[in-house]
Amino acid sequence: MNVAHGSGYRIAENARLDARNTFGVRATAPMLVEATETAALPELFGYAMLRNAATLILGGGSNLLFAGDPPGAVLALETRRIDLVEDHGDAAIVRAEAGVGWHDFVLWTLGNGLAGLENLALIPGTVGAAPIQNIGAYGVEVREHVHAVEAFDRDSGRFVRLAAVDCAFAYRDSLFKHLPDRYVVSAVEFALSRMFQPRLGYAGIEDELRAMGIDGSPRAAQVAEAVIRIRRRKLPDPAVVGNAGSFFKNPIVPAAQAEALLAANPTMPVFRSADAGSRKLSAAWLIDQCGWKGHRDGDAGVSPDHALVLVNHGTATGLELLALARRIAESVQARFGVAIEPEPRIVGARW
Ligand code: FAD
Ligand code: EPU
Repeated sequence: MNVAHGSGYRIAENARLDARNTFGVRATAPMLVEATETAALPELFGYAMLRNAATLILGGGSNLLFAGDPPGAVLALETRRIDLVEDHGDAAIVRAEAGVGWHDFVLWTLGNGLAGLENLALIPGTVGAAPIQNIGAYGVEVREHVHAVEAFDRDSGRFVRLAAVDCAFAYRDSLFKHLPDRYVVSAVEFALSRMFQPRLGYAGIEDELRAMGIDGSPRAAQVAEAVIRIRRRKLPDPAVVGNAGSFFKNPIVPAAQAEALLAANPTMPVFRSADAGSRKLSAAWLIDQCGWKGHRDGDAGVSPDHALVLVNHGTATGLELLALARRIAESVQARFGVAIEPEPRIVGARW
Protein backbone atom coordinates (compact mmCIF):
# COMPACT_ATOMS: atom_id res chain seq x y z
CA MET A 1 0.00 0.00 0.00
CA ASN A 2 1.58 3.29 -1.12
CA VAL A 3 0.94 6.26 1.11
CA ALA A 4 1.34 9.94 0.18
CA HIS A 5 0.73 13.11 2.23
CA GLY A 6 -0.28 16.66 1.34
CA SER A 7 -1.29 19.68 3.38
CA GLY A 8 -4.44 18.59 5.25
CA TYR A 9 -4.73 15.14 3.69
CA ARG A 10 -3.09 11.78 3.19
CA ILE A 11 -3.63 9.27 0.39
CA ALA A 12 -3.26 5.49 0.39
CA GLU A 13 -3.62 3.16 -2.58
CA ASN A 14 -5.40 -0.22 -2.44
CA ALA A 15 -6.65 0.43 1.08
CA ARG A 16 -8.72 -2.27 2.80
CA LEU A 17 -12.11 -1.04 4.03
CA ASP A 18 -13.08 -4.13 6.10
CA ALA A 19 -12.62 -2.24 9.37
CA ARG A 20 -14.29 0.86 7.94
CA ASN A 21 -17.74 -0.68 7.46
CA THR A 22 -19.80 -1.97 10.38
CA PHE A 23 -20.95 -5.04 8.40
CA GLY A 24 -17.26 -5.95 8.43
CA VAL A 25 -17.39 -7.17 4.83
CA ARG A 26 -14.33 -7.27 2.61
CA ALA A 27 -13.78 -4.30 0.32
CA THR A 28 -10.79 -2.45 -1.09
CA ALA A 29 -10.59 1.18 -2.20
CA PRO A 30 -8.33 1.82 -5.21
CA MET A 31 -7.49 5.11 -3.48
CA LEU A 32 -8.38 6.20 0.06
CA VAL A 33 -8.05 9.90 0.82
CA GLU A 34 -8.26 11.02 4.45
CA ALA A 35 -8.81 14.78 4.74
CA THR A 36 -7.72 16.17 8.09
CA GLU A 37 -8.61 19.77 7.15
CA THR A 38 -11.78 20.98 5.44
CA ALA A 39 -9.68 23.57 3.58
CA ALA A 40 -8.02 20.73 1.62
CA LEU A 41 -11.26 19.83 -0.21
CA PRO A 42 -11.01 22.31 -3.14
CA GLU A 43 -7.46 21.15 -3.90
CA LEU A 44 -8.43 17.47 -3.59
CA PHE A 45 -11.41 17.82 -5.91
CA GLY A 46 -9.10 19.53 -8.39
CA TYR A 47 -7.49 16.14 -9.00
CA ALA A 48 -9.09 14.07 -11.79
CA MET A 49 -9.25 10.94 -9.61
CA LEU A 50 -11.52 12.68 -7.07
CA ARG A 51 -13.44 14.92 -9.49
CA ASN A 52 -14.74 11.67 -10.98
CA ALA A 53 -18.42 11.19 -10.01
CA ALA A 54 -17.58 7.72 -8.63
CA THR A 55 -15.82 9.19 -5.56
CA LEU A 56 -17.50 7.80 -2.45
CA ILE A 57 -17.66 9.86 0.74
CA LEU A 58 -17.19 7.51 3.68
CA GLY A 59 -18.03 8.30 7.28
CA GLY A 60 -18.14 5.51 9.87
CA GLY A 61 -19.42 3.01 7.28
CA SER A 62 -22.44 2.21 9.48
CA ASN A 63 -25.05 2.78 6.79
CA LEU A 64 -23.59 1.19 3.73
CA LEU A 65 -23.11 -2.24 2.26
CA PHE A 66 -20.10 -2.97 0.08
CA ALA A 67 -21.59 -5.42 -2.43
CA GLY A 68 -18.39 -4.89 -4.41
CA ASP A 69 -15.34 -2.67 -4.25
CA PRO A 70 -16.03 1.04 -4.63
CA PRO A 71 -15.34 1.87 -8.29
CA GLY A 72 -13.50 5.13 -7.62
CA ALA A 73 -11.66 6.99 -4.89
CA VAL A 74 -12.97 6.98 -1.31
CA LEU A 75 -12.82 10.19 0.72
CA ALA A 76 -13.03 10.10 4.52
CA LEU A 77 -13.23 13.34 6.49
CA GLU A 78 -11.12 13.21 9.63
CA THR A 79 -12.01 16.76 10.71
CA ARG A 80 -13.02 16.94 14.35
CA ARG A 81 -13.58 20.53 15.58
CA ILE A 82 -16.59 21.41 17.73
CA ASP A 83 -17.35 25.12 18.36
CA LEU A 84 -20.07 26.98 20.20
CA VAL A 85 -20.75 29.61 17.52
CA GLU A 86 -23.68 31.46 19.05
CA ASP A 87 -24.77 31.58 22.68
CA HIS A 88 -28.05 33.28 23.57
CA GLY A 89 -28.31 31.93 27.11
CA ASP A 90 -31.28 29.60 26.73
CA ALA A 91 -30.41 28.68 23.16
CA ALA A 92 -27.15 28.06 21.34
CA ILE A 93 -25.77 27.15 17.94
CA VAL A 94 -23.03 24.53 17.93
CA ARG A 95 -20.98 23.75 14.84
CA ALA A 96 -19.35 20.35 14.49
CA GLU A 97 -17.09 19.22 11.67
CA ALA A 98 -18.06 16.20 9.58
CA GLY A 99 -15.54 13.75 11.07
CA VAL A 100 -16.72 14.12 14.68
CA GLY A 101 -18.21 10.85 15.96
CA TRP A 102 -21.97 11.24 16.35
CA HIS A 103 -22.29 9.72 19.82
CA ASP A 104 -19.22 11.64 21.07
CA PHE A 105 -20.91 14.79 19.83
CA VAL A 106 -24.18 13.98 21.63
CA LEU A 107 -22.16 13.45 24.84
CA TRP A 108 -20.30 16.75 24.25
CA THR A 109 -23.60 18.67 23.94
CA LEU A 110 -25.01 17.07 27.10
CA GLY A 111 -21.76 17.72 28.96
CA ASN A 112 -22.09 21.38 28.01
CA GLY A 113 -25.66 21.61 29.31
CA LEU A 114 -27.22 21.65 25.83
CA ALA A 115 -30.32 19.53 25.22
CA GLY A 116 -32.03 18.32 22.06
CA LEU A 117 -29.99 15.36 20.83
CA GLU A 118 -30.44 13.06 23.86
CA ASN A 119 -32.92 10.72 22.10
CA LEU A 120 -30.33 10.23 19.33
CA ALA A 121 -27.64 8.90 21.66
CA LEU A 122 -25.57 5.87 20.60
CA ILE A 123 -26.39 6.07 16.88
CA PRO A 124 -23.12 5.00 15.20
CA GLY A 125 -21.38 7.09 12.54
CA THR A 126 -20.30 10.67 12.06
CA VAL A 127 -21.77 14.16 12.30
CA GLY A 128 -21.27 14.59 8.53
CA ALA A 129 -23.53 11.63 7.74
CA ALA A 130 -26.29 12.64 10.18
CA PRO A 131 -28.11 14.92 7.70
CA ILE A 132 -27.74 12.45 4.78
CA GLN A 133 -30.60 10.21 5.90
CA ASN A 134 -31.86 12.62 8.59
CA ILE A 135 -31.04 10.17 11.38
CA GLY A 136 -33.86 9.47 13.77
CA ALA A 137 -34.63 7.43 16.85
CA TYR A 138 -36.96 7.32 19.83
CA GLY A 139 -39.35 9.94 18.46
CA VAL A 140 -36.80 12.56 17.35
CA GLU A 141 -35.24 13.28 13.93
CA VAL A 142 -32.03 15.24 13.62
CA ARG A 143 -33.68 17.76 11.26
CA GLU A 144 -35.46 19.23 14.29
CA HIS A 145 -32.07 20.47 15.51
CA VAL A 146 -30.20 21.13 12.25
CA HIS A 147 -29.70 24.88 11.89
CA ALA A 148 -27.65 24.68 8.68
CA VAL A 149 -25.49 22.25 6.73
CA GLU A 150 -22.13 23.36 5.37
CA ALA A 151 -20.95 21.46 2.31
CA PHE A 152 -18.41 21.46 -0.48
CA ASP A 153 -20.39 21.62 -3.73
CA ARG A 154 -18.53 19.40 -6.20
CA ASP A 155 -20.46 20.98 -9.12
CA SER A 156 -19.35 24.57 -8.46
CA GLY A 157 -16.11 23.80 -6.61
CA ARG A 158 -17.25 26.10 -3.76
CA PHE A 159 -18.40 25.78 -0.19
CA VAL A 160 -22.13 26.37 0.37
CA ARG A 161 -24.25 26.75 3.49
CA LEU A 162 -27.78 25.32 3.28
CA ALA A 163 -30.42 26.34 5.80
CA ALA A 164 -32.36 23.37 7.22
CA VAL A 165 -35.47 24.30 5.19
CA ASP A 166 -33.46 23.88 1.99
CA CYS A 167 -32.27 20.34 2.84
CA ALA A 168 -35.58 18.56 1.90
CA PHE A 169 -35.49 16.52 5.09
CA ALA A 170 -38.04 13.72 5.39
CA TYR A 171 -38.17 10.28 7.08
CA ARG A 172 -34.71 8.73 6.38
CA ASP A 173 -34.29 11.16 3.49
CA SER A 174 -32.76 14.48 2.41
CA LEU A 175 -31.55 16.47 -0.58
CA PHE A 176 -28.06 15.02 0.02
CA LYS A 177 -29.28 11.45 -0.31
CA HIS A 178 -30.64 12.26 -3.77
CA LEU A 179 -27.44 14.02 -4.89
CA PRO A 180 -24.70 11.71 -3.59
CA ASP A 181 -22.20 12.93 -6.19
CA ARG A 182 -22.69 16.62 -5.45
CA TYR A 183 -22.37 17.61 -1.80
CA VAL A 184 -19.62 16.72 0.64
CA VAL A 185 -21.00 17.71 4.03
CA SER A 186 -18.13 19.48 5.79
CA ALA A 187 -19.85 20.63 9.00
CA VAL A 188 -23.29 20.81 10.58
CA GLU A 189 -24.65 23.63 12.73
CA PHE A 190 -27.11 22.51 15.41
CA ALA A 191 -29.70 24.59 17.27
CA LEU A 192 -29.76 23.37 20.88
CA SER A 193 -31.35 24.52 24.10
CA ARG A 194 -30.56 24.93 27.79
CA MET A 195 -34.29 24.66 28.56
CA PHE A 196 -34.75 20.90 28.49
CA GLN A 197 -38.09 19.64 27.20
CA PRO A 198 -38.12 15.84 27.48
CA ARG A 199 -39.51 13.82 24.58
CA LEU A 200 -40.67 10.62 26.23
CA GLY A 201 -43.49 9.54 23.90
CA TYR A 202 -41.69 6.64 22.16
CA ALA A 203 -42.63 3.26 23.58
CA GLY A 204 -40.26 2.08 26.28
CA ILE A 205 -38.52 5.31 27.34
CA GLU A 206 -40.70 6.06 30.37
CA ASP A 207 -40.54 2.42 31.50
CA GLU A 208 -36.76 2.48 31.19
CA LEU A 209 -36.52 5.71 33.23
CA ARG A 210 -38.68 4.13 35.93
CA ALA A 211 -36.46 1.05 35.92
CA MET A 212 -33.54 3.46 36.47
CA GLY A 213 -35.38 4.83 39.53
CA ILE A 214 -36.26 8.16 37.85
CA ASP A 215 -39.93 9.01 38.25
CA GLY A 216 -40.25 12.80 38.18
CA SER A 217 -38.62 15.08 35.61
CA PRO A 218 -35.57 13.42 34.08
CA ARG A 219 -32.47 15.37 33.08
CA ALA A 220 -31.41 15.24 29.42
CA ALA A 221 -28.43 13.01 30.27
CA GLN A 222 -30.80 10.57 31.99
CA VAL A 223 -33.01 10.36 28.89
CA ALA A 224 -29.85 9.65 26.86
CA GLU A 225 -28.93 6.92 29.35
CA ALA A 226 -32.41 5.36 29.04
CA VAL A 227 -32.13 5.38 25.23
CA ILE A 228 -28.64 3.83 25.44
CA ARG A 229 -29.91 1.06 27.70
CA ILE A 230 -32.83 0.23 25.36
CA ARG A 231 -30.58 0.31 22.28
CA ARG A 232 -27.98 -1.98 23.89
CA ARG A 233 -30.72 -4.49 24.64
CA LYS A 234 -32.44 -4.37 21.24
CA LEU A 235 -29.70 -3.91 18.66
CA PRO A 236 -26.62 -6.06 18.07
CA ASP A 237 -23.30 -4.29 18.69
CA PRO A 238 -21.36 -4.05 15.39
CA ALA A 239 -18.15 -4.62 17.36
CA VAL A 240 -19.49 -8.10 18.19
CA VAL A 241 -21.53 -9.00 15.08
CA GLY A 242 -21.39 -7.03 11.84
CA ASN A 243 -24.55 -5.07 10.98
CA ALA A 244 -25.78 -1.69 9.72
CA GLY A 245 -28.75 -1.20 12.05
CA SER A 246 -32.12 -1.38 10.29
CA PHE A 247 -31.52 -2.83 6.84
CA PHE A 248 -34.91 -1.66 5.50
CA LYS A 249 -36.82 1.59 5.94
CA ASN A 250 -40.26 1.35 7.45
CA PRO A 251 -42.58 1.43 4.41
CA ILE A 252 -45.01 4.31 3.97
CA VAL A 253 -48.24 3.21 2.32
CA PRO A 254 -51.62 4.83 1.52
CA ALA A 255 -53.91 4.90 4.58
CA ALA A 256 -56.49 2.71 2.77
CA GLN A 257 -53.87 -0.01 2.16
CA ALA A 258 -52.81 0.13 5.83
CA GLU A 259 -56.45 -0.24 6.92
CA ALA A 260 -56.99 -3.25 4.63
CA LEU A 261 -53.81 -4.90 5.95
CA LEU A 262 -54.85 -4.16 9.53
CA ALA A 263 -58.27 -5.74 8.98
CA ALA A 264 -56.53 -8.94 7.80
CA ASN A 265 -53.73 -8.73 10.44
CA PRO A 266 -55.17 -7.18 13.62
CA THR A 267 -51.84 -7.31 15.54
CA MET A 268 -49.93 -5.36 12.86
CA PRO A 269 -48.38 -2.12 14.20
CA VAL A 270 -49.41 0.99 12.24
CA PHE A 271 -47.83 4.40 12.85
CA ARG A 272 -48.69 7.95 11.78
CA SER A 273 -46.80 9.32 8.80
CA ALA A 274 -45.94 12.90 7.81
CA ASP A 275 -49.16 13.34 5.80
CA ALA A 276 -52.70 12.35 6.77
CA GLY A 277 -53.26 10.20 3.68
CA SER A 278 -50.50 7.71 4.46
CA ARG A 279 -49.31 5.45 7.26
CA LYS A 280 -45.94 4.03 8.28
CA LEU A 281 -45.79 0.25 8.72
CA SER A 282 -43.22 -1.69 10.72
CA ALA A 283 -40.75 -3.41 8.36
CA ALA A 284 -39.54 -5.45 11.36
CA TRP A 285 -43.03 -6.82 11.96
CA LEU A 286 -43.60 -7.66 8.27
CA ILE A 287 -40.24 -9.49 8.06
CA ASP A 288 -40.81 -11.25 11.37
CA GLN A 289 -44.20 -12.53 10.16
CA CYS A 290 -42.48 -14.01 7.10
CA GLY A 291 -40.35 -16.11 9.49
CA TRP A 292 -36.94 -14.55 8.85
CA LYS A 293 -35.86 -13.69 12.40
CA GLY A 294 -32.72 -15.66 13.28
CA HIS A 295 -32.49 -17.10 9.72
CA ARG A 296 -28.98 -17.86 8.41
CA ASP A 297 -27.60 -18.48 4.93
CA GLY A 298 -24.04 -19.37 5.94
CA ASP A 299 -22.65 -16.26 7.62
CA ALA A 300 -25.31 -13.92 6.19
CA GLY A 301 -28.25 -13.79 8.52
CA VAL A 302 -31.09 -11.95 10.22
CA SER A 303 -30.52 -11.03 13.86
CA PRO A 304 -32.35 -13.36 16.28
CA ASP A 305 -33.08 -10.25 18.38
CA HIS A 306 -34.47 -7.89 15.73
CA ALA A 307 -35.99 -8.90 12.39
CA LEU A 308 -34.94 -5.63 10.71
CA VAL A 309 -31.22 -6.12 11.29
CA LEU A 310 -29.17 -8.15 8.80
CA VAL A 311 -26.01 -9.54 10.34
CA ASN A 312 -22.63 -10.85 9.22
CA HIS A 313 -21.82 -13.80 11.48
CA GLY A 314 -18.24 -13.92 10.23
CA THR A 315 -17.13 -13.98 6.63
CA ALA A 316 -20.31 -13.14 4.70
CA THR A 317 -19.68 -11.07 1.59
CA GLY A 318 -21.66 -7.99 0.72
CA LEU A 319 -23.17 -9.85 -2.24
CA GLU A 320 -24.38 -12.66 0.05
CA LEU A 321 -26.00 -10.14 2.38
CA LEU A 322 -27.57 -8.40 -0.61
CA ALA A 323 -28.95 -11.72 -1.94
CA LEU A 324 -30.53 -12.43 1.46
CA ALA A 325 -32.00 -8.91 1.60
CA ARG A 326 -33.58 -9.40 -1.83
CA ARG A 327 -35.19 -12.69 -0.77
CA ILE A 328 -36.58 -11.02 2.36
CA ALA A 329 -38.05 -8.13 0.36
CA GLU A 330 -39.57 -10.54 -2.18
CA SER A 331 -41.27 -12.55 0.56
CA VAL A 332 -42.74 -9.40 2.18
CA GLN A 333 -43.98 -8.26 -1.24
CA ALA A 334 -45.53 -11.67 -1.95
CA ARG A 335 -47.27 -12.02 1.42
CA PHE A 336 -48.34 -8.43 2.16
CA GLY A 337 -48.11 -6.62 -1.20
CA VAL A 338 -45.74 -4.09 0.39
CA ALA A 339 -42.42 -3.04 -1.16
CA ILE A 340 -39.63 -2.55 1.37
CA GLU A 341 -36.49 -0.64 0.43
CA PRO A 342 -33.00 -0.81 1.87
CA GLU A 343 -31.91 1.95 4.20
CA PRO A 344 -28.12 1.61 3.74
CA ARG A 345 -26.41 2.78 0.58
CA ILE A 346 -25.43 -0.20 -1.56
CA VAL A 347 -22.02 0.24 -3.15
CA GLY A 348 -20.97 -1.85 -6.13
CA ALA A 349 -24.42 -3.22 -7.04
CA ARG A 350 -27.96 -2.03 -7.66
CA TRP A 351 -30.95 -2.84 -5.46
P1 FAD B 1 -21.60 6.05 6.27
O1 FAD B 1 -22.20 4.71 6.47
O2 FAD B 1 -20.14 6.13 6.11
O3 FAD B 1 -22.29 6.72 4.99
C1 FAD B 1 -23.69 6.69 4.83
C2 FAD B 1 -24.06 7.54 3.61
O4 FAD B 1 -23.76 8.90 3.88
C3 FAD B 1 -23.27 7.19 2.35
O5 FAD B 1 -24.09 7.41 1.24
C4 FAD B 1 -22.11 8.18 2.38
O6 FAD B 1 -21.59 8.43 1.08
C5 FAD B 1 -22.81 9.41 2.93
N1 FAD B 1 -21.91 10.31 3.67
C6 FAD B 1 -21.24 10.03 4.82
N2 FAD B 1 -20.57 11.12 5.23
C7 FAD B 1 -20.82 12.09 4.32
C8 FAD B 1 -20.40 13.45 4.18
N3 FAD B 1 -19.60 14.03 5.07
N4 FAD B 1 -20.85 14.14 3.12
C9 FAD B 1 -21.66 13.58 2.20
N5 FAD B 1 -22.09 12.30 2.27
C10 FAD B 1 -21.66 11.58 3.32
N6 FAD B 1 -29.65 5.36 11.79
C11 FAD B 1 -30.70 6.07 12.26
O7 FAD B 1 -31.17 7.01 11.61
N7 FAD B 1 -31.28 5.79 13.47
C12 FAD B 1 -30.82 4.79 14.25
O8 FAD B 1 -31.38 4.56 15.33
C13 FAD B 1 -29.72 4.03 13.78
N8 FAD B 1 -29.25 3.00 14.54
C14 FAD B 1 -28.19 2.26 14.07
C15 FAD B 1 -27.71 1.22 14.87
C16 FAD B 1 -26.65 0.44 14.45
C17 FAD B 1 -26.15 -0.69 15.32
C18 FAD B 1 -26.02 0.73 13.20
C19 FAD B 1 -24.83 -0.07 12.75
C20 FAD B 1 -26.49 1.76 12.39
C21 FAD B 1 -27.59 2.54 12.82
N9 FAD B 1 -28.11 3.60 12.05
C22 FAD B 1 -29.15 4.35 12.53
C23 FAD B 1 -27.55 3.90 10.72
C24 FAD B 1 -26.29 4.80 10.78
O9 FAD B 1 -25.70 4.78 12.05
C25 FAD B 1 -26.61 6.25 10.39
O10 FAD B 1 -27.21 6.31 9.12
C26 FAD B 1 -25.35 7.13 10.40
O11 FAD B 1 -25.72 8.47 10.21
C27 FAD B 1 -24.35 6.72 9.33
O12 FAD B 1 -23.15 7.44 9.58
P2 FAD B 1 -21.76 7.01 8.96
O13 FAD B 1 -20.79 8.09 9.28
O14 FAD B 1 -21.40 5.65 9.40
O15 FAD B 1 -22.10 7.04 7.40
N1 EPU C 1 -40.95 -5.73 15.79
C1 EPU C 1 -41.23 -7.02 15.41
N2 EPU C 1 -40.19 -7.92 15.37
C2 EPU C 1 -38.92 -7.58 15.71
C3 EPU C 1 -38.63 -6.26 16.10
C4 EPU C 1 -39.67 -5.34 16.13
O1 EPU C 1 -42.37 -7.36 15.09
O2 EPU C 1 -38.03 -8.46 15.62
C5 EPU C 1 -42.06 -4.76 15.79
C6 EPU C 1 -42.57 -4.46 17.17
O3 EPU C 1 -43.98 -4.50 17.08
C7 EPU C 1 -42.13 -3.06 17.46
C8 EPU C 1 -42.01 -2.45 16.07
O4 EPU C 1 -41.59 -3.55 15.24
O5 EPU C 1 -43.09 -2.35 18.18
C9 EPU C 1 -40.98 -1.34 15.99
O6 EPU C 1 -39.71 -1.80 16.48
P1 EPU C 1 -38.60 -0.79 17.03
O7 EPU C 1 -39.17 0.06 18.13
O8 EPU C 1 -37.37 -1.58 17.31
O9 EPU C 1 -38.39 0.19 15.83
P2 EPU C 1 -38.04 -0.07 14.31
O10 EPU C 1 -39.15 0.47 13.48
O11 EPU C 1 -37.68 -1.49 14.05
C10 EPU C 1 -36.91 2.23 14.04
C11 EPU C 1 -35.71 2.74 13.31
C12 EPU C 1 -34.45 2.52 14.13
C13 EPU C 1 -34.58 3.27 15.44
C14 EPU C 1 -35.81 2.74 16.19
C15 EPU C 1 -36.10 3.52 17.46
C16 EPU C 1 -36.21 2.59 10.95
C17 EPU C 1 -35.97 1.86 9.67
N3 EPU C 1 -35.60 2.10 12.02
O12 EPU C 1 -36.75 0.82 14.15
O13 EPU C 1 -33.35 3.06 13.41
O14 EPU C 1 -33.45 3.11 16.26
O15 EPU C 1 -36.97 2.86 15.32
O16 EPU C 1 -36.60 4.77 17.11
O17 EPU C 1 -36.89 3.61 10.95
C18 EPU C 1 -31.71 2.52 11.78
O18 EPU C 1 -32.26 3.38 11.05
O19 EPU C 1 -30.68 1.90 11.42
C19 EPU C 1 -32.29 2.24 13.08
C20 EPU C 1 -31.80 1.31 13.90
